[in-house]
Amino acid sequence: MEKIMMVFILAYLIGSLVPGYWIGKLFFHKDIRNEGSGNIGTTNAFRILGPVAGCFVLAFDILKGALAGLLPAIFGLDVNVMWVGLFAILGHTFSIWIGFKGGKAVATSAGVLSVYNGPLFWMVCAVFVSCLILFSMVSVASMVGFSFATVMSVFYYHDLILSIIAITLTVFVFYRHRQNIGRILSGKESTIPFGLVYWL
Ligand code: G3P
Repeated sequence: MEKIMMVFILAYLIGSLVPGYWIGKLFFHKDIRNEGSGNIGTTNAFRILGPVAGCFVLAFDILKGALAGLLPAIFGLDVNVMWVGLFAILGHTFSIWIGFKGGKAVATSAGVLSVYNGPLFWMVCAVFVSCLILFSMVSVASMVGFSFATVMSVFYYHDLILSIIAITLTVFVFYRHRQNIGRILSGKESTIPFGLVYWL
């Protein structure tokens, strides 16, 4: 039991690492929480700090989730990867380093899923990229990706724990994207230079 608690805490601390915030502060003397969308995640890092920093934040945030997902195997524990991963996602969204605030849970959740269910992870990536190509908005791709993962968990995999976590996370992700949703509805959401909506 003690070991499981330690792994949950470790996962939370791993998830708490905030590369977007730290890189902005360290190398660009910018607080990305005060610029662009104010999010500390990949999209805002791309927007404010540029593509190199953005790619680094994306890789780091995905790896955080994947590393947390590997903790049960590393410590030889029989605990569901998704429960441990959930603590990393909590760390990412309520980070100990920035006053229990944080990102929108997208990349870190993807990292956890990559360990728990590789095929579903790649399907979600395909849906995500297709949405980017169609709509040029990361927020839309993120919300559709989470919704797709939930539908697959419930109706295809019939995986109770994954379904519960996917439904909860999808509701949370929509809530975290409430400002994005407002901007999408008023036609003001920022687009990325990739995909149909941007070029048309
Ligand atoms: O991963 C977050 C993304 O879906 C939206 O980011 O910065 O446009 O709010 P942002």
